[in-house]
Amino acid sequence: MSLGSARGSEAVAGDAAGRATYEAAPNIALVKYWGVRDERLGLPYNSSVSVTLDGLRTVTTVAFDASLDRDELLLNGRKAPEKARRSVSALLDRVRARSGLTAHARVRTRNNFPTASGLASSASGFAALAGAATAAAGLELSPRALSKLARFGSGSASRSVFGGFVEWRAGRRPDGRDCYARPLFGPQHWPELRDVVVLIEGAPEKAVRSAVAMQATVRTSPRFAARQRALPGRLAALKRAIAGRDAEALFPLVMEECDDFRDVCETTRPPLDYLTPASRAVLEEVRRVNLEAGRAVAGYTHDAGAHVHVFVLERDAARLRRRLAQVPGVARTLLLRAGPGGRLVRRSA
Ligand code: PMV
Repeated sequence: MSLGSARGSEAVAGDAAGRATYEAAPNIALVKYWGVRDERLGLPYNSSVSVTLDGLRTVTTVAFDASLDRDELLLNGRKAPEKARRSVSALLDRVRARSGLTAHARVRTRNNFPTASGLASSASGFAALAGAATAAAGLELSPRALSKLARFGSGSASRSVFGGFVEWRAGRRPDGRDCYARPLFGPQHWPELRDVVVLIEGAPEKAVRSAVAMQATVRTSPRFAARQRALPGRLAALKRAIAGRDAEALFPLVMEECDDFRDVCETTRPPLDYLTPASRAVLEEVRRVNLEAGRAVAGYTHDAGAHVHVFVLERDAARLRRRLAQVPGVARTLLLRAGPGGRLVRRSA
């Protein structure tokens, strides 16, 4: 088994508060995190598995500065909305509490992909923030400890600290000590696997944060308990399919999980509907491709957003991509592979 690593997060030296830059990539969940069993400790109901994506990056610089009277956030070069600034401040508070620092910070963050579009900018964003802030504060955290911190910004960020195929284990202990993310296989484990990201025209911005929406599902979806019962078996089968690089086993499981996730969302009161008609047409097209071929050529999934990720092997990727690009309402497609984990880019005192 090869392990992906959060290069650099172990190698932080020095104790002076300064400035640091860290980059991280989004991940797409094959088994979804959806529901928190302990909000104070950030413990999920179920374990989740994701692939960290190559090519998409969030790069974040944190500079602590005693002359600031509050934390500042620039997102893609512009002053960020107050809600985003507050959630960044909340994670910085945890870093200050751990390091003994009291200074506020200037945070600059850039995505090379659309923000808040369902492309999981919160996962890469909070992984990059946790990496940059702890390094700037002079803390030396292991990748696991960094991932545990990142999850307080966004649960899925705990997985973006690592590259390749990553599992966030829910654990069973009430104190959360057995709840952490870990790499299952590095980015090179399955070189033929591709993710065709299908970007949907006019994808709406999220109205409700996932962290809030998922708790509505826990409280109100009559299907949530059945989902929890089905997950351990599905998760084990999915990990076996990844270990054996078995696409024809993996793709149907990925779609089954996605359909189950969508089902608990749609049966939440009031219903959570993240898809547009174009997203649904993409799912339909993937089903048709598989039906026509008489085998699982591809497997779709989506998170809490309108864009669709379609897993496929390299040999079928170009043809599938052309076909999905023709679905009305598709803006464009990206062809991605599994990619590396978070990385400290630079640090200065
Ligand atoms: O990490 P959050 O709080 O944005 O929630 C992520 C939820 C999903 O993307 C739908 C599932 C997942 O595991 O990434």
